[in-house]
Amino acid sequence: MCLDENTLKILNDVFLLLSILLPLFFLIYFFYDKKKKKKLGYYLLALIIIILIICFRGEIMNINICKSNKKINDITTTKAIPAVNSDNYIGKTSKGYILEKKDGAYFIDDYLIVNKSYALNEDFIPKNTHTKITDEICILCIDNEAYEKWLNIKNDAIAINLNIYIASGYRSFEYQKGLYEKYENRDGKDMADTYSARAGHSEHQSGLAFDLNSIDSSFAATDEGKWVNENAYLYGFIIRYPKGKEKITGYKYEPWHLRYVGLSLAEKLYNDGEWITMEEYFGIDSKYK
Ligand code: DAL
Ligand code: ZN
Repeated sequence: MCLDENTLKILNDVFLLLSILLPLFFLIYFFYDKKKKKKLGYYLLALIIIILIICFRGEIMNINICKSNKKINDITTTKAIPAVNSDNYIGKTSKGYILEKKDGAYFIDDYLIVNKSYALNEDFIPKNTHTKITDEICILCIDNEAYEKWLNIKNDAIAINLNIYIASGYRSFEYQKGLYEKYENRDGKDMADTYSARAGHSEHQSGLAFDLNSIDSSFAATDEGKWVNENAYLYGFIIRYPKGKEKITGYKYEPWHLRYVGLSLAEKLYNDGEWITMEEYFGIDSKYK
């Protein structure tokens, strides 16, 4: 079943209000009603109605929006749909963001998305990188804007006697494939999946992410690691796989892996030091199919 967006929004709002106000009203009334024992039948009926309303709201959230008589999957909220190229349109996330696929990559609000659910095409190669991509791996083959911010953060770190450097930058699809297979052979698939992305699923292929200094959890406790965690967002970088978010990102804590998203989103995800993941913010999964 699908409904037009406005109807869905109104239905959703009405049932949201009802499912909050009715139980409240019911509880207050029940609490103050001195003859409640005599009215047990009515109370039971009211309770059933409230439960039905809450269930119905759950159903509304699963109704899809009809777009040009076409059913669009994964539509669960009521955020307005801005004009998008319908050829690129994939659907809406659980938080109402529009997911698109263009040029071999998924995007939400022009932020490139790559995780266990959303892969880059095998032939995806980032454009506009600081160093031209000619090899399978390349430390400085990162997006021009990210590179500019990288120079800023590096120089500011140097000014306070901290030494941060890029240990791993761009990795091609093929390179990531070999890397993952190496880890898979060594530790098994389940373990490898906790720290290494399968081919096409690594942010390193996007040119927007890189690893700093040492790929070891001890990096978090170094002066560099602590400073990066507290300051990277000021340059538009995020800790992409934060501590405590392993079940959401699908990866163990990686204090060394920075992803460039720009100042505005980085500040929101930094969240005063309580990192939010891109998955939580946009309402998407990170799971292999
Ligand atoms: N270590 C991260 C998840 C990667 O392989 O891209
Ligand atoms: Zn990394």
